[in-house]
Amino acid sequence: MTDKSISRRKFLTNSAVVGTGLLVLPSGTLFGQNRPSNKLNIALVGAWGRASQHYGALQGENVVALCDVDKNNLAKAKAEFPQAAEYEDWRKCLDHKGLDAVLCCTTDHTHAFVANWALNRDLHVYLEKPLAITVNEARTLRATYLKKKGKLATQVGTQRHAHPNFNRLREMIQDGAIGNLKEAHAWARHAQSRPGYLPAAGPAPAHLNYDLWLGPSPEHPYNPGYFELGDRAGLGCQSWNKYWDFSMGYAGDWGSHTFDLVWNVIDAERPTSAKAESSETPNPETTPADLRASFMIPANDWRDEIRVTWHQSKTGPGSPLDWINLDTISHGALFKGDQGYVIADFQKRLLLPFGKNADLSYFDPRDRADTAADLGHFQHQWTNACKNGKPAETACNFEYGANMIETLCLGLAAFRAGADLDYDGAAGRVTNVASANEYLTKPYRQGWTMDG
Ligand SMILES: NC(=O)c1ccc[n+]([C@@H]2O[C@H](COP(=O)([O-])OP(=O)(O)OC[C@H]3O[C@@H](n4cnc5c(N)ncnc54)[C@H](O)[C@@H]3O)[C@@H](O)[C@H]2O)c1
Repeated sequence: MTDKSISRRKFLTNSAVVGTGLLVLPSGTLFGQNRPSNKLNIALVGAWGRASQHYGALQGENVVALCDVDKNNLAKAKAEFPQAAEYEDWRKCLDHKGLDAVLCCTTDHTHAFVANWALNRDLHVYLEKPLAITVNEARTLRATYLKKKGKLATQVGTQRHAHPNFNRLREMIQDGAIGNLKEAHAWARHAQSRPGYLPAAGPAPAHLNYDLWLGPSPEHPYNPGYFELGDRAGLGCQSWNKYWDFSMGYAGDWGSHTFDLVWNVIDAERPTSAKAESSETPNPETTPADLRASFMIPANDWRDEIRVTWHQSKTGPGSPLDWINLDTISHGALFKGDQGYVIADFQKRLLLPFGKNADLSYFDPRDRADTAADLGHFQHQWTNACKNGKPAETACNFEYGANMIETLCLGLAAFRAGADLDYDGAAGRVTNVASANEYLTKPYRQGWTMDG
């Protein structure tokens, strides 16, 4: 065994212990000392759409406050949680008396705002993906979280992370199944684009507070096109998430899920550089459909420096073998080591040793007892962590999630700047193309601050 694989094994043993440490304390012993039940008081911000897919997971808790800018959607949530107080403005909702936690399913351009305000109020947060839509938002949220780490439980809504395949991939690659890791790719197909912001189309309907929907976003006139899929729970985001002022496009949408397959393996913080390729020229209004963004990720104690690439396009990475067609995997990952490849989707993985010495003699798979415990129910991992005194143990806490989305946002900045970027991750600055720094943030409407 090399020094790196020894330290890798030591690290994995440690993380396996962490992984099995999730214990829910008996009712009332830690959280909610003065409560008759061990239930969290939760505010659901953005109360329908994707939120409705969390209703079941929240049945064991007290949903005490509902917030939605659309009265019709608020009414649907109220039918589910009749005892809850109703709010239109999340800034007021977060001050609801007695709150413990917030589950946020609003538009992407408000995620970092809602979450940062909630952390500032010492509330636990489950935040739908993407965690943020710019480098600066991700960094702000991570910084706030780190100040509260050990006290507040956070989870980014990348629920596919609960598939045991995530742990198995991490273990097999870190245990050396493909030798030394050299590069990694993640891809998702079917990205779409939009031509530009929609034209004014009269006033918003009375049930929608469009001004609050815009929130911190720069002003755009109302157009029903931004809501055209809003009656289909969990699909409404497809109406607005290709516009820079409202989101970050496919990299935040499926990137949050699929890039996670790679991010969970590589133990990365932030990249040192980013470059982007696309068949499209940057559109100042809308996000690209076709993008290949790659990042240099510094070495750590178990692997060398590696290149990691996010592909959102019809073509992903080349297949290692012509009889394996990666195009049939709509959301997947490819890991390349000096002794072979691993190909994966969310639930399956395929080990492909290659080369003269790829006899697997170098691979020492761990005993079953040393494998990480299954994460279990993803949302319950968060509600449990809110209560059990081990809040940092959620799989997709805001440190992990912010590092990942900061990386994807940097890839978009490279695309928009039309340049290869060198990045100082400690400072959060592009060091070689000063003008690219404008793409690390975005304009906000006057009166809105993340730090409320
Ligand atoms: N984890 C997943 O698999 C998954 C799946 C679908 C959507 N999502 C995420 O969930 C979020 C919501 O997506 P959706 O498709 O439900 O969108 P949507 O636009 O259909 O629904 C959002 C809901 O939040 C309300 N809302 C919007 N802005 C608000 C604000 N500022 N304050 C209060 N309420 C507000 C809307 O009225 C609506 O009820 C997005 O961030 C999306 O990326 C995640």
